[in-house]
Amino acid sequence: MAYFESEAWVDRVDQLAENDYVVVDNFIPNQLYSKIEAFYHKRLAEDNFAKAGIGALNDYQIVETIRGDFVYWLNKDNDAEIADFFVMMEEFVQFLNRTCFLSLSGFEFHLAYYPQNTYYQKHLDQFKKRNNRLISVVLYLNQNWKKGDGGELKIYQKEGGEVLIEPIANRCVFFRSDIVPHEVLKTNTNRKSVTGWLLYQPPTLGFLLG
Ligand code: OGA
Ligand code: NI
Repeated sequence: MAYFESEAWVDRVDQLAENDYVVVDNFIPNQLYSKIEAFYHKRLAEDNFAKAGIGALNDYQIVETIRGDFVYWLNKDNDAEIADFFVMMEEFVQFLNRTCFLSLSGFEFHLAYYPQNTYYQKHLDQFKKRNNRLISVVLYLNQNWKKGDGGELKIYQKEGGEVLIEPIANRCVFFRSDIVPHEVLKTNTNRKSVTGWLLYQPPTLGFLLG
């Protein structure tokens, strides 16, 4: 797949480098998008999601007032139904390494479900004790999102401005995990996404690095 080999992607990477975030609509090819959506709904129907926590390793805690979402961590071996998604992310990592001279070496993704009336307060995606998350990736799966449904992603720009991003279906947002403060505004209906991080060390190394 030469999905990322286009002028449009060169442009998007420039935006990411310049603004620390970029929004890409219609990110996933239709057939794969349908597979991801079906997979998501199966996990939800089978009650495979767990309450999300904050922090890593020793810091890990569940704090209802900070974030209200439920997550299902993806695993390449178990979740073969969406193997093409992992292939696509692998290619994206290679593409960023080539074009931005990064040394990303992997990724971690989870499905996220925000029930009505939940949110995620302003935060950064890097933890104090495990700082190998470099790029955050959020793909939205909200087929009929409309104004008033809430759950917008608010990004705090370095110049002091704020951007509100509507979580519409097949929109993907990329941003720097270490320096972009962001929050999920209160949801007025449920909100679905696939959220992940491109890593610059294998995730397992985090335990050694502390
Ligand atoms: C996160 C997060 C943003 C979103 O999971 O850390 O900030 O729009 N998600 O879901
Ligand atoms: Ni976040």
